[in-house]
Amino acid sequence: MMISDRSTFHAVSQPSNDRSLLQIIDLIADTLGFHIHLKHQDSLRKTIQTRIAALGLASFSDYYLYLMTQSRSLCSATEWHRLIALLSVTESYFFRDQGQFGLLKHQLLPELIDRKRQLSLIRSDTANEKPHRPTLRLWSAGCSTGEEAYSLAILIKELIPDYQAWDILILGTDINQSAIAIAQQGIYSDWSFRTTEPTLKNQYFRPHRKSWEIDPSIRQMVTFQFGNLVQDPYPDYNSKIHNLDLILCRNVFIYFNFNTIARILEKFYCSLAPGGVLLPGHTELYRQNTQSFLIKSFPQSIVYQRELNLPILNHPTNTTSQKASSAPKAALTPLIRQASKSQPTASPTNTQPSSHQALFDQARRSLRQEAYTDTIQTAQHLVSLAPQHFQAYCLLAEAHANLGQYTQATEACQQALQINALATEPYYLLAQIAEEQGDIDSAKLFLKRIIYLTPNAVSAYQELGSIYEREGNAKQAQKTWRSLLEVLQGLPQEQSVNANNRQTIAELREYLSHYRQV
Ligand SMILES: C[S@@+](CC[C@H](N)C(=O)[O-])C[C@H]1O[C@@H](n2cnc3c(N)ncnc32)[C@H](O)[C@@H]1O
Repeated sequence: MMISDRSTFHAVSQPSNDRSLLQIIDLIADTLGFHIHLKHQDSLRKTIQTRIAALGLASFSDYYLYLMTQSRSLCSATEWHRLIALLSVTESYFFRDQGQFGLLKHQLLPELIDRKRQLSLIRSDTANEKPHRPTLRLWSAGCSTGEEAYSLAILIKELIPDYQAWDILILGTDINQSAIAIAQQGIYSDWSFRTTEPTLKNQYFRPHRKSWEIDPSIRQMVTFQFGNLVQDPYPDYNSKIHNLDLILCRNVFIYFNFNTIARILEKFYCSLAPGGVLLPGHTELYRQNTQSFLIKSFPQSIVYQRELNLPILNHPTNTTSQKASSAPKAALTPLIRQASKSQPTASPTNTQPSSHQALFDQARRSLRQEAYTDTIQTAQHLVSLAPQHFQAYCLLAEAHANLGQYTQATEACQQALQINALATEPYYLLAQIAEEQGDIDSAKLFLKRIIYLTPNAVSAYQELGSIYEREGNAKQAQKTWRSLLEVLQGLPQEQSVNANNRQTIAELREYLSHYRQV
């Protein structure tokens, strides 16, 4: 390979470099699944420039060829390994998403454990020999530094007192070898415990210098290994990835494009045991064809289950359970309403550089003037400077939605939820988009999610009640109106229902009693 100095590098023509950069982007997408957005291409360019300099190469084209010659097995010595370390986001922490972990602890895992225990009793009887050990197979796919897999192990230890009498697999896989090495070590800083109850931390970790080391009994329960969700064939009967009871794959799909997610989803389905469930991050499967799964909607999360041949699982009473409807229709009239502004969730703070504030104000002004393309341009500029700007993503989402660009709008909502998973604003918009596209089931789910996150979400109750009425579901509509009335009773009566509505709480109550006979 040609050795270069910086001047040789700069001498390479820009168009040629741009072409090679695009080739590299395609190669990365094929190999790792990472979908590099236009707005991140500059940052990728800089990352690759550092690698080109470190390797003494002359151009992007050289780097592309170099990557092509590197083993795709992604072993730790290759350039791929270094590139993954630079490109992948390994952000993780224990019990990330209290709602989903609550659901696992109180509902999904107890049901699963019960079923597996019964199954082992049936098998022991039939075999008429020594007791059959119950089995449990759980996979944290895209486990990063291990917090998710260890959180599962802690739950299992708490839920199965005789866990040593079980055959339990808790597997964590990731494409990032450095993350896997950290996971195997099991030593974490305070930041990994940002939402963990102190009692759990004290019970399962012990101080290690300025960090915390996981208890060996928990560490032994988890196996970590390299795995590439995009390229590896699953199920793999030679490895442990088959017949799984639970797949957790959260905050991983967000880096992939639609088709890559669809392919992985199919592999996940085939890797689940009958009755096994997939728990993705919120909205990460939006608009995917999930028809083969049984969809169970809990207030805390949507769960995708591979059907059992026998109805062994009890359907919980507070869920709706249904076979997924076919992919939403592509009905594309621009939204005329705007997402509710009644619950701003992450206002820009005074510590923001004033240029960010100015851009934000400009984008918001453009949105109010219905200059949606300008809004998008300004908000995109803002997120390139401040990638954690929650409200900039909300503006982006609204503007795209108003232009009928629902895919981009949905992506922007997902980005906003990545930054603030407890925010309701993106869910209002997702609900509107779903409704606009005739995907009423998803709209209802998003509205229920809002109600779960903010029990006083008057607008969400109103919208949900109206949907039930439109569907002719008088029973659910009445139930929703009754819940709304209860909420209204606890609110200041003279207050407006929301910023877009002059009606007061007292007037809405009266309306419900008279016209809806609640
Ligand atoms: C943000 S972390 C999520 C960690 C954890 N699931 C959580 O929610 O806390 C995303 C992880 O996905 C991994 N990842 C990205 N692409 C992958 C692929 N093609 N195969 C396996 N893991 C991948 C990254 O290396 C990173 O560690």
